[in-house]
Amino acid sequence: MVSPPLSSSPSSSLSPARIVSRNPADLDDVVTEVDATDRDGFVAVCRLARAAQLDWAAVPAPVRGRVIAQVGRLVESNKEALAALVTREMGKPYAESLGEVQEIIDTCDFFLGEGRRLYGQTVPSEMPDKQLFTFRTPVGVAAIVTAANFPVAVPSWYLVPALLCGNAVVWKPSESTPAVAAALAELFWQGGIPRNVLHLVHADGPTTFDGLSGALDAQLVDKVGFTGSTTVGRRIGELAGRHLQSACLELGGKNPLVVAADADLELAVEGALFSGFGTAGQRCTSLGTAFVHESLYDEFVARLAAAVSSATVGEPTGDVLFGPLINENYLAAFEKCLDLVQPHHVVHGSTGTGRITADNPRAGFVGDPSRGVFVHPTVVSGVTADDELYRVETFGPLVGVGSWSTFDEAVSLANGHGYGLSAAIYTSDAATAFRFRERCSAGMVSVNNSTSGAEAHLPFGGNGLSGNGSRQSGIWVLDQFTRWQSMNWDYAGKLQKAQMDTPGLGSAVAASAYDPSFRL
Ligand code: UN1
Repeated sequence: MVSPPLSSSPSSSLSPARIVSRNPADLDDVVTEVDATDRDGFVAVCRLARAAQLDWAAVPAPVRGRVIAQVGRLVESNKEALAALVTREMGKPYAESLGEVQEIIDTCDFFLGEGRRLYGQTVPSEMPDKQLFTFRTPVGVAAIVTAANFPVAVPSWYLVPALLCGNAVVWKPSESTPAVAAALAELFWQGGIPRNVLHLVHADGPTTFDGLSGALDAQLVDKVGFTGSTTVGRRIGELAGRHLQSACLELGGKNPLVVAADADLELAVEGALFSGFGTAGQRCTSLGTAFVHESLYDEFVARLAAAVSSATVGEPTGDVLFGPLINENYLAAFEKCLDLVQPHHVVHGSTGTGRITADNPRAGFVGDPSRGVFVHPTVVSGVTADDELYRVETFGPLVGVGSWSTFDEAVSLANGHGYGLSAAIYTSDAATAFRFRERCSAGMVSVNNSTSGAEAHLPFGGNGLSGNGSRQSGIWVLDQFTRWQSMNWDYAGKLQKAQMDTPGLGSAVAASAYDPSFRL
Protein backbone atom coordinates (compact mmCIF):
# COMPACT_ATOMS: atom_id res chain seq x y z
CA MET A 1 0.00 0.00 0.00
CA VAL A 2 1.23 3.52 -0.65
CA SER A 3 -1.08 5.32 1.72
CA PRO A 4 0.60 7.96 3.87
CA PRO A 5 -0.57 6.69 7.26
CA LEU A 6 2.16 8.26 9.39
CA SER A 7 1.37 11.80 8.34
CA SER A 8 -1.86 13.57 9.10
CA SER A 9 -3.85 14.19 6.01
CA PRO A 10 -4.45 17.81 5.02
CA SER A 11 -7.71 16.99 3.27
CA SER A 12 -9.13 14.95 6.12
CA SER A 13 -7.86 16.83 9.15
CA LEU A 14 -8.63 20.41 10.17
CA SER A 15 -6.43 20.44 13.26
CA PRO A 16 -4.55 17.78 15.20
CA ALA A 17 -7.58 17.44 17.47
CA ARG A 18 -10.23 16.94 14.80
CA ILE A 19 -10.52 14.47 11.96
CA VAL A 20 -12.98 15.23 9.18
CA SER A 21 -13.93 12.67 6.58
CA ARG A 22 -15.42 13.53 3.24
CA ASN A 23 -17.13 11.56 0.52
CA PRO A 24 -14.41 11.11 -2.11
CA ALA A 25 -17.05 11.11 -4.85
CA ASP A 26 -18.39 14.45 -3.60
CA LEU A 27 -15.89 16.42 -1.54
CA ASP A 28 -18.60 18.85 -0.37
CA ASP A 29 -20.25 15.98 1.49
CA VAL A 30 -18.74 15.87 5.00
CA VAL A 31 -19.41 12.36 6.30
CA THR A 32 -18.32 12.93 9.89
CA GLU A 33 -16.04 14.85 12.24
CA VAL A 34 -14.48 13.13 15.22
CA ASP A 35 -12.12 14.03 18.05
CA ALA A 36 -8.61 12.73 17.61
CA THR A 37 -6.72 11.50 20.62
CA ASP A 38 -3.18 12.49 21.60
CA ARG A 39 -0.30 10.27 22.72
CA ASP A 40 -1.36 10.16 26.37
CA GLY A 41 -4.95 9.51 25.35
CA PHE A 42 -3.84 6.52 23.32
CA VAL A 43 -1.86 5.13 26.26
CA ALA A 44 -4.79 5.74 28.61
CA VAL A 45 -7.12 3.76 26.38
CA CYS A 46 -4.65 0.87 26.34
CA ARG A 47 -4.65 1.02 30.15
CA LEU A 48 -8.45 0.71 30.19
CA ALA A 49 -8.22 -2.26 27.87
CA ARG A 50 -5.60 -3.87 30.11
CA ALA A 51 -7.90 -3.46 33.14
CA ALA A 52 -10.79 -5.17 31.34
CA GLN A 53 -9.00 -8.03 29.63
CA LEU A 54 -8.83 -10.63 32.39
CA ASP A 55 -12.57 -10.51 33.06
CA TRP A 56 -13.24 -10.97 29.35
CA ALA A 57 -10.81 -13.87 29.18
CA ALA A 58 -12.68 -15.47 32.10
CA VAL A 59 -15.88 -15.63 30.03
CA PRO A 60 -16.01 -19.21 28.67
CA ALA A 61 -14.86 -19.33 25.05
CA PRO A 62 -18.17 -20.86 23.83
CA VAL A 63 -19.99 -17.88 25.36
CA ARG A 64 -17.59 -15.48 23.66
CA GLY A 65 -18.39 -17.40 20.47
CA ARG A 66 -22.08 -16.71 21.01
CA VAL A 67 -21.32 -13.00 21.30
CA ILE A 68 -19.46 -13.19 17.98
CA ALA A 69 -22.53 -14.95 16.54
CA GLN A 70 -24.69 -12.04 17.67
CA VAL A 71 -22.28 -9.54 16.14
CA GLY A 72 -22.47 -11.47 12.86
CA ARG A 73 -26.26 -11.43 12.86
CA LEU A 74 -26.32 -7.69 13.61
CA VAL A 75 -23.88 -6.99 10.78
CA GLU A 76 -26.09 -9.11 8.52
CA SER A 77 -29.22 -7.19 9.41
CA ASN A 78 -27.38 -3.90 8.81
CA LYS A 79 -25.58 -5.07 5.69
CA GLU A 80 -27.01 -2.56 3.24
CA ALA A 81 -26.67 0.43 5.59
CA LEU A 82 -23.06 -0.39 6.44
CA ALA A 83 -22.21 -1.01 2.78
CA ALA A 84 -23.77 2.31 1.78
CA LEU A 85 -21.64 4.06 4.40
CA VAL A 86 -18.49 2.30 3.14
CA THR A 87 -19.25 3.55 -0.37
CA ARG A 88 -19.99 7.07 0.84
CA GLU A 89 -16.91 7.42 3.02
CA MET A 90 -14.33 5.36 1.13
CA GLY A 91 -15.64 5.39 -2.45
CA LYS A 92 -15.66 1.75 -3.55
CA PRO A 93 -18.63 0.71 -5.69
CA TYR A 94 -21.69 -0.35 -3.70
CA ALA A 95 -21.55 -3.94 -5.03
CA GLU A 96 -18.00 -4.25 -3.69
CA SER A 97 -19.05 -2.71 -0.38
CA LEU A 98 -21.75 -5.36 -0.02
CA GLY A 99 -19.04 -7.97 -0.63
CA GLU A 100 -16.83 -6.34 1.97
CA VAL A 101 -19.60 -6.44 4.59
CA GLN A 102 -20.28 -10.06 3.68
CA GLU A 103 -16.64 -10.79 4.52
CA ILE A 104 -17.31 -9.64 8.12
CA ILE A 105 -20.33 -11.92 8.32
CA ASP A 106 -18.26 -14.83 6.98
CA THR A 107 -15.55 -14.12 9.54
CA CYS A 108 -18.09 -14.08 12.39
CA ASP A 109 -19.66 -17.30 11.09
CA PHE A 110 -16.29 -19.00 11.08
CA PHE A 111 -15.23 -17.85 14.55
CA LEU A 112 -18.52 -18.37 16.36
CA GLY A 113 -17.73 -22.10 16.08
CA GLU A 114 -14.13 -21.59 17.10
CA GLY A 115 -15.48 -20.63 20.51
CA ARG A 116 -16.42 -24.29 20.94
CA ARG A 117 -13.09 -25.55 19.57
CA LEU A 118 -10.08 -23.43 20.45
CA TYR A 119 -8.50 -26.82 20.85
CA GLY A 120 -5.47 -27.71 22.92
CA GLN A 121 -3.85 -31.14 22.90
CA THR A 122 -3.20 -34.00 25.26
CA VAL A 123 0.35 -35.21 24.72
CA PRO A 124 1.96 -38.44 25.99
CA SER A 125 4.73 -38.07 28.54
CA GLU A 126 8.00 -40.01 28.38
CA MET A 127 7.30 -41.16 31.93
CA PRO A 128 4.51 -43.21 33.51
CA ASP A 129 1.87 -41.56 35.65
CA LYS A 130 2.39 -38.23 34.00
CA GLN A 131 0.33 -36.39 31.39
CA LEU A 132 1.15 -33.41 29.19
CA PHE A 133 -1.29 -30.81 27.82
CA THR A 134 -1.33 -27.68 25.68
CA PHE A 135 -3.69 -24.75 26.03
CA ARG A 136 -4.23 -21.66 23.94
CA THR A 137 -4.16 -18.56 26.13
CA PRO A 138 -5.07 -15.04 25.01
CA VAL A 139 -2.11 -12.73 24.41
CA GLY A 140 -3.71 -9.87 26.41
CA VAL A 141 -4.27 -6.47 24.80
CA ALA A 142 -4.09 -6.18 21.02
CA ALA A 143 -3.56 -2.77 19.38
CA ILE A 144 -4.90 -2.89 15.83
CA VAL A 145 -4.13 -0.22 13.23
CA THR A 146 -5.97 -0.56 9.92
CA ALA A 147 -6.18 1.06 6.49
CA ALA A 148 -8.91 2.78 4.52
CA ASN A 149 -9.17 0.47 1.51
CA PHE A 150 -11.03 -2.29 3.35
CA PRO A 151 -12.32 -0.21 6.25
CA VAL A 152 -14.52 -2.91 7.80
CA ALA A 153 -13.60 -6.37 6.42
CA VAL A 154 -9.89 -6.22 7.22
CA PRO A 155 -10.50 -4.81 10.73
CA SER A 156 -12.92 -7.68 11.32
CA TRP A 157 -10.14 -10.14 10.43
CA TYR A 158 -8.32 -8.83 13.51
CA LEU A 159 -11.16 -7.89 15.86
CA VAL A 160 -13.25 -11.05 15.57
CA PRO A 161 -10.52 -13.63 16.33
CA ALA A 162 -8.78 -11.37 18.87
CA LEU A 163 -12.00 -10.93 20.86
CA LEU A 164 -13.05 -14.55 20.45
CA CYS A 165 -9.71 -15.65 21.91
CA GLY A 166 -10.25 -13.54 25.03
CA ASN A 167 -8.16 -10.48 24.24
CA ALA A 168 -9.08 -6.85 24.74
CA VAL A 169 -8.66 -4.68 21.65
CA VAL A 170 -7.72 -1.06 20.99
CA TRP A 171 -8.62 -0.32 17.37
CA LYS A 172 -7.21 2.69 15.51
CA PRO A 173 -8.89 2.85 12.09
CA SER A 174 -7.78 4.95 9.14
CA GLU A 175 -8.29 8.69 9.45
CA SER A 176 -10.14 8.49 6.13
CA THR A 177 -12.92 6.24 7.43
CA PRO A 178 -13.91 7.26 10.98
CA ALA A 179 -17.68 7.03 10.37
CA VAL A 180 -17.48 3.49 9.04
CA ALA A 181 -15.26 2.53 11.98
CA ALA A 182 -17.72 3.99 14.49
CA ALA A 183 -20.57 2.07 12.85
CA LEU A 184 -18.67 -1.23 12.97
CA ALA A 185 -17.58 -0.73 16.58
CA GLU A 186 -21.19 0.02 17.53
CA LEU A 187 -22.30 -3.28 15.97
CA PHE A 188 -19.70 -5.11 18.08
CA TRP A 189 -20.84 -3.34 21.26
CA GLN A 190 -24.53 -3.85 20.50
CA GLY A 191 -23.78 -7.51 19.81
CA GLY A 192 -22.47 -7.93 23.36
CA ILE A 193 -18.76 -7.06 23.33
CA PRO A 194 -18.25 -4.96 26.49
CA ARG A 195 -17.29 -1.37 25.73
CA ASN A 196 -14.20 -1.62 27.92
CA VAL A 197 -13.02 -4.69 25.99
CA LEU A 198 -13.16 -3.10 22.52
CA HIS A 199 -11.97 0.50 22.27
CA LEU A 200 -12.08 2.72 19.21
CA VAL A 201 -9.53 5.54 19.05
CA HIS A 202 -9.03 8.08 16.29
CA ALA A 203 -5.56 9.51 15.77
CA ASP A 204 -3.20 10.61 13.05
CA GLY A 205 -0.21 8.49 12.09
CA PRO A 206 2.54 10.12 14.19
CA THR A 207 0.32 10.20 17.29
CA THR A 208 -0.58 6.55 16.78
CA PHE A 209 3.08 5.59 16.56
CA ASP A 210 3.98 7.61 19.69
CA GLY A 211 0.97 6.25 21.56
CA LEU A 212 1.82 2.70 20.60
CA SER A 213 5.39 3.24 21.66
CA GLY A 214 4.25 4.64 25.03
CA ALA A 215 1.79 1.80 25.56
CA LEU A 216 4.46 -0.79 24.76
CA ASP A 217 6.89 0.93 27.15
CA ALA A 218 4.23 0.77 29.85
CA GLN A 219 3.64 -2.92 29.06
CA LEU A 220 0.01 -2.27 28.16
CA VAL A 221 0.04 -3.86 24.70
CA ASP A 222 0.92 -7.48 23.97
CA LYS A 223 0.21 -7.69 20.25
CA VAL A 224 0.23 -5.17 17.44
CA GLY A 225 -1.69 -5.74 14.23
CA PHE A 226 -1.04 -3.43 11.31
CA THR A 227 -2.40 -3.28 7.78
CA GLY A 228 -0.87 -0.59 5.60
CA SER A 229 2.24 0.41 3.72
CA THR A 230 5.50 -1.53 3.74
CA THR A 231 7.34 1.61 4.87
CA VAL A 232 5.20 2.03 7.97
CA GLY A 233 5.05 -1.73 8.50
CA ARG A 234 8.83 -1.82 8.84
CA ARG A 235 8.69 0.83 11.58
CA ILE A 236 5.87 -0.94 13.41
CA GLY A 237 7.74 -4.24 13.12
CA GLU A 238 10.92 -2.64 14.53
CA LEU A 239 9.01 -1.07 17.40
CA ALA A 240 7.31 -4.36 18.26
CA GLY A 241 10.63 -6.21 17.91
CA ARG A 242 12.29 -3.91 20.44
CA HIS A 243 9.61 -5.06 22.86
CA LEU A 244 10.27 -8.71 21.96
CA GLN A 245 6.97 -8.91 20.16
CA SER A 246 6.23 -9.99 16.66
CA ALA A 247 3.60 -7.81 15.00
CA CYS A 248 0.95 -9.17 12.66
CA LEU A 249 1.81 -7.22 9.49
CA GLU A 250 -0.29 -7.11 6.34
CA LEU A 251 1.54 -4.81 3.92
CA GLY A 252 1.71 -3.98 0.25
CA GLY A 253 1.80 -6.05 -2.90
CA LYS A 254 2.92 -5.94 -6.51
CA ASN A 255 0.81 -8.89 -7.42
CA PRO A 256 1.66 -10.62 -10.70
CA LEU A 257 -0.75 -12.35 -13.04
CA VAL A 258 1.04 -14.80 -15.33
CA VAL A 259 -0.66 -15.81 -18.58
CA ALA A 260 0.72 -19.03 -20.07
CA ALA A 261 0.58 -19.85 -23.77
CA ASP A 262 -2.24 -22.35 -23.15
CA ALA A 263 -4.39 -19.93 -21.11
CA ASP A 264 -8.04 -19.08 -21.71
CA LEU A 265 -7.25 -15.53 -22.85
CA GLU A 266 -10.71 -14.08 -22.31
CA LEU A 267 -10.76 -15.39 -18.74
CA ALA A 268 -7.33 -13.90 -18.11
CA VAL A 269 -8.42 -10.50 -19.44
CA GLU A 270 -11.53 -10.59 -17.26
CA GLY A 271 -9.37 -11.44 -14.23
CA ALA A 272 -6.94 -8.63 -15.03
CA LEU A 273 -9.79 -6.13 -15.38
CA PHE A 274 -11.31 -7.07 -12.04
CA SER A 275 -8.12 -7.33 -10.02
CA GLY A 276 -6.40 -4.35 -11.65
CA PHE A 277 -9.23 -1.86 -11.50
CA GLY A 278 -11.71 -3.06 -8.86
CA THR A 279 -11.57 -0.83 -5.75
CA ALA A 280 -9.76 1.59 -8.14
CA GLY A 281 -6.68 -0.62 -7.81
CA GLN A 282 -6.45 0.14 -4.08
CA ARG A 283 -6.47 -3.41 -2.76
CA CYS A 284 -3.39 -5.05 -1.26
CA THR A 285 -4.26 -7.84 -3.67
CA SER A 286 -4.67 -5.60 -6.73
CA LEU A 287 -2.96 -6.74 -9.90
CA GLY A 288 0.41 -5.05 -10.38
CA THR A 289 1.76 -6.45 -13.65
CA ALA A 290 0.38 -9.05 -16.04
CA PHE A 291 3.17 -11.17 -17.54
CA VAL A 292 1.94 -12.70 -20.75
CA HIS A 293 3.55 -15.38 -22.91
CA GLU A 294 4.97 -13.74 -26.03
CA SER A 295 2.60 -15.73 -28.27
CA LEU A 296 -0.46 -14.07 -26.64
CA TYR A 297 1.04 -10.73 -25.63
CA ASP A 298 -0.29 -8.47 -28.43
CA GLU A 299 -3.73 -10.01 -28.26
CA PHE A 300 -3.85 -9.71 -24.46
CA VAL A 301 -2.82 -6.04 -24.55
CA ALA A 302 -5.41 -5.27 -27.24
CA ARG A 303 -8.22 -7.03 -25.41
CA LEU A 304 -7.35 -5.56 -21.99
CA ALA A 305 -7.02 -2.07 -23.48
CA ALA A 306 -10.44 -2.45 -25.15
CA ALA A 307 -12.08 -3.76 -21.97
CA VAL A 308 -10.62 -0.92 -19.87
CA SER A 309 -11.49 1.73 -22.45
CA SER A 310 -15.12 0.66 -22.56
CA ALA A 311 -15.53 0.17 -18.80
CA THR A 312 -17.70 2.57 -16.85
CA VAL A 313 -15.98 4.76 -14.29
CA GLY A 314 -17.69 7.22 -11.97
CA GLU A 315 -20.28 7.59 -9.23
CA PRO A 316 -19.77 4.55 -6.96
CA THR A 317 -23.42 4.20 -5.99
CA GLY A 318 -24.01 3.21 -9.63
CA ASP A 319 -22.91 0.20 -11.67
CA VAL A 320 -19.28 1.16 -12.31
CA LEU A 321 -15.97 -0.67 -12.58
CA PHE A 322 -14.54 1.76 -10.06
CA GLY A 323 -15.27 5.03 -8.33
CA PRO A 324 -12.99 7.65 -6.79
CA LEU A 325 -9.66 7.21 -5.04
CA ILE A 326 -9.88 7.27 -1.25
CA ASN A 327 -8.82 10.91 -0.99
CA GLU A 328 -6.47 13.51 -2.43
CA ASN A 329 -3.41 12.07 -0.65
CA TYR A 330 -3.92 8.84 -2.55
CA LEU A 331 -4.32 10.88 -5.73
CA ALA A 332 -0.99 12.66 -5.12
CA ALA A 333 0.78 9.33 -4.54
CA PHE A 334 -0.83 7.81 -7.64
CA GLU A 335 0.16 10.77 -9.81
CA LYS A 336 3.80 10.22 -8.76
CA CYS A 337 3.48 6.65 -10.03
CA LEU A 338 2.30 7.94 -13.39
CA ASP A 339 5.66 9.74 -13.64
CA LEU A 340 7.28 6.30 -13.76
CA VAL A 341 5.89 5.71 -17.26
CA GLN A 342 8.87 5.70 -19.66
CA PRO A 343 9.19 6.40 -23.40
CA HIS A 344 9.51 2.68 -24.16
CA HIS A 345 6.10 2.05 -22.61
CA VAL A 346 2.76 2.35 -24.39
CA VAL A 347 -0.22 3.73 -22.47
CA HIS A 348 -3.76 2.45 -23.14
CA GLY A 349 -7.17 2.31 -21.52
CA SER A 350 -8.62 5.81 -21.46
CA THR A 351 -9.00 9.21 -23.04
CA GLY A 352 -6.30 10.62 -20.74
CA THR A 353 -4.24 9.84 -17.65
CA GLY A 354 -4.31 11.23 -14.12
CA ARG A 355 -7.21 13.12 -12.59
CA ILE A 356 -10.45 13.16 -14.57
CA THR A 357 -11.63 16.75 -15.01
CA ALA A 358 -13.71 18.76 -17.48
CA ASP A 359 -10.45 19.44 -19.35
CA ASN A 360 -9.18 15.89 -19.06
CA PRO A 361 -12.42 13.94 -19.56
CA ARG A 362 -13.04 10.20 -19.51
CA ALA A 363 -15.39 8.91 -22.20
CA GLY A 364 -18.56 7.53 -20.65
CA PHE A 365 -17.88 8.91 -17.15
CA VAL A 366 -20.93 8.61 -14.88
CA GLY A 367 -21.49 11.69 -12.69
CA ASP A 368 -19.59 14.94 -12.28
CA PRO A 369 -15.84 14.30 -12.02
CA SER A 370 -15.12 17.76 -10.62
CA ARG A 371 -16.96 16.85 -7.40
CA GLY A 372 -14.61 14.05 -6.43
CA VAL A 373 -11.20 12.40 -6.68
CA PHE A 374 -11.54 10.44 -9.91
CA VAL A 375 -8.69 9.21 -12.11
CA HIS A 376 -8.37 7.60 -15.51
CA PRO A 377 -7.66 3.88 -15.65
CA THR A 378 -4.26 3.24 -17.19
CA VAL A 379 -2.74 0.19 -18.85
CA VAL A 380 1.02 0.41 -19.44
CA SER A 381 2.44 -2.17 -21.84
CA GLY A 382 6.11 -2.92 -22.42
CA VAL A 383 6.98 -3.24 -18.72
CA THR A 384 10.29 -5.00 -18.06
CA ALA A 385 12.13 -6.07 -14.91
CA ASP A 386 14.41 -3.03 -15.25
CA ASP A 387 11.56 -0.55 -14.92
CA GLU A 388 10.71 1.18 -11.66
CA LEU A 389 7.10 0.51 -12.56
CA TYR A 390 7.93 -3.18 -12.19
CA ARG A 391 8.89 -2.67 -8.52
CA VAL A 392 6.67 0.12 -7.21
CA GLU A 393 3.22 -0.57 -5.83
CA THR A 394 1.04 1.99 -7.60
CA PHE A 395 -2.07 1.63 -5.39
CA GLY A 396 -4.40 3.03 -8.02
CA PRO A 397 -6.01 2.00 -11.32
CA LEU A 398 -2.83 1.21 -13.22
CA VAL A 399 -1.86 -2.18 -14.61
CA GLY A 400 1.46 -2.98 -16.26
CA VAL A 401 1.86 -5.64 -18.94
CA GLY A 402 5.09 -7.42 -19.83
CA SER A 403 6.01 -10.52 -21.81
CA TRP A 404 8.07 -13.68 -21.33
CA SER A 405 9.20 -16.62 -23.40
CA THR A 406 10.31 -19.33 -20.94
CA PHE A 407 8.62 -20.55 -17.77
CA ASP A 408 11.76 -19.72 -15.75
CA GLU A 409 11.51 -16.15 -16.98
CA ALA A 410 7.84 -15.98 -15.96
CA VAL A 411 8.66 -17.20 -12.44
CA SER A 412 11.51 -14.76 -12.10
CA LEU A 413 9.28 -11.85 -13.22
CA ALA A 414 6.56 -12.96 -10.81
CA ASN A 415 8.97 -12.98 -7.84
CA GLY A 416 11.68 -10.45 -8.69
CA HIS A 417 10.04 -7.26 -7.38
CA GLY A 418 10.37 -8.47 -3.78
CA TYR A 419 6.71 -8.39 -2.72
CA GLY A 420 5.05 -11.70 -1.99
CA LEU A 421 1.35 -11.29 -1.25
CA SER A 422 -0.75 -12.74 -4.06
CA ALA A 423 0.07 -14.19 -7.48
CA ALA A 424 -2.08 -15.69 -10.23
CA ILE A 425 -1.43 -18.00 -13.15
CA TYR A 426 -3.76 -18.68 -16.08
CA THR A 427 -3.04 -22.03 -17.74
CA SER A 428 -4.89 -25.13 -18.89
CA ASP A 429 -2.05 -27.44 -17.80
CA ALA A 430 -2.13 -28.79 -14.24
CA ALA A 431 1.64 -29.35 -14.19
CA THR A 432 2.28 -25.68 -15.05
CA ALA A 433 -0.08 -24.59 -12.29
CA PHE A 434 1.56 -26.80 -9.64
CA ARG A 435 5.08 -25.87 -10.77
CA PHE A 436 4.18 -22.21 -10.54
CA ARG A 437 2.70 -22.71 -7.06
CA GLU A 438 5.88 -24.41 -5.93
CA ARG A 439 8.27 -21.73 -7.19
CA CYS A 440 6.18 -18.65 -6.55
CA SER A 441 7.18 -16.71 -3.41
CA ALA A 442 3.71 -15.26 -2.73
CA GLY A 443 1.69 -16.25 0.31
CA MET A 444 -1.43 -16.72 -1.84
CA VAL A 445 -1.61 -18.27 -5.31
CA SER A 446 -4.60 -18.31 -7.68
CA VAL A 447 -5.01 -20.62 -10.67
CA ASN A 448 -7.32 -19.35 -13.41
CA ASN A 449 -8.55 -16.72 -11.00
CA SER A 450 -7.43 -13.16 -10.39
CA THR A 451 -5.03 -11.96 -7.68
CA SER A 452 -7.98 -10.65 -5.63
CA GLY A 453 -10.84 -12.45 -4.00
CA ALA A 454 -9.44 -14.14 -0.90
CA GLU A 455 -12.04 -16.03 1.13
CA ALA A 456 -12.45 -15.46 4.85
CA HIS A 457 -11.35 -18.92 5.97
CA LEU A 458 -8.05 -19.35 4.08
CA PRO A 459 -4.79 -17.93 5.42
CA PHE A 460 -4.28 -14.37 4.18
CA GLY A 461 -0.84 -12.80 4.24
CA GLY A 462 2.44 -12.34 2.46
CA ASN A 463 6.19 -12.71 2.44
CA GLY A 464 9.09 -10.42 1.63
CA LEU A 465 7.98 -6.80 1.33
CA SER A 466 4.35 -7.87 1.90
CA GLY A 467 4.78 -8.92 5.52
CA ASN A 468 6.69 -10.89 8.09
CA GLY A 469 4.95 -14.19 7.44
CA SER A 470 2.03 -13.59 9.79
CA ARG A 471 -1.28 -14.92 8.56
CA GLN A 472 -4.82 -13.74 9.12
CA SER A 473 -8.12 -15.58 8.71
CA GLY A 474 -9.22 -19.13 9.36
CA ILE A 475 -7.56 -21.24 12.03
CA TRP A 476 -4.16 -19.76 11.17
CA VAL A 477 -4.85 -16.38 12.75
CA LEU A 478 -5.32 -18.09 16.13
CA ASP A 479 -1.53 -18.17 16.40
CA GLN A 480 -1.55 -14.36 16.30
CA PHE A 481 -4.03 -13.92 19.13
CA THR A 482 -3.16 -16.81 21.43
CA ARG A 483 0.02 -18.17 22.91
CA TRP A 484 0.59 -21.82 23.51
CA GLN A 485 0.87 -22.73 27.16
CA SER A 486 2.03 -26.23 28.04
CA MET A 487 1.25 -28.04 31.27
CA ASN A 488 2.64 -31.24 32.70
CA TRP A 489 0.90 -33.11 35.49
CA ASP A 490 2.72 -35.81 37.40
CA TYR A 491 0.60 -38.17 39.47
CA ALA A 492 3.34 -40.71 40.32
CA GLY A 493 3.57 -39.41 43.86
CA LYS A 494 7.36 -39.20 43.58
CA LEU A 495 9.74 -36.85 41.75
CA GLN A 496 10.33 -38.13 38.22
CA LYS A 497 13.15 -36.24 36.51
CA ALA A 498 12.64 -35.71 32.78
CA GLN A 499 15.37 -37.25 30.59
CA MET A 500 17.00 -38.80 33.66
CA ASP A 501 14.27 -41.02 35.10
CA THR A 502 12.78 -41.92 31.73
CA PRO A 503 12.23 -45.69 31.55
CA GLY A 504 14.65 -47.52 29.23
CA LEU A 505 13.43 -49.70 26.39
CA GLY A 506 14.07 -52.89 28.35
CA SER A 507 11.55 -52.03 31.02
CA ALA A 508 8.48 -52.22 28.83
CA VAL A 509 9.50 -53.30 25.35
CA ALA A 510 11.05 -56.47 24.06
CA ALA A 511 14.15 -54.93 22.50
CA SER A 512 15.88 -58.24 21.89
CA ALA A 513 15.72 -57.86 18.09
CA TYR A 514 17.69 -54.62 18.19
CA ASP A 515 21.41 -55.06 17.58
CA PRO A 516 23.20 -51.70 17.20
CA SER A 517 26.24 -53.42 15.68
CA PHE A 518 24.18 -54.93 12.87
CA ARG A 519 25.33 -54.00 9.34
CA LEU A 520 24.15 -55.32 5.98
C1 UN1 B 1 -6.79 -6.17 1.11
O1 UN1 B 1 -6.60 -5.79 -0.03
O2 UN1 B 1 -6.20 -5.67 2.08
O3 UN1 B 1 -8.88 -10.66 -1.65
C2 UN1 B 1 -7.76 -7.21 1.45
C3 UN1 B 1 -9.47 -9.59 -1.67
C4 UN1 B 1 -10.36 -9.21 -0.51
C5 UN1 B 1 -9.52 -8.74 0.65
C6 UN1 B 1 -8.41 -7.83 0.26
N1 UN1 B 1 -11.18 -10.31 -0.12
O4 UN1 B 1 -9.37 -8.80 -2.58
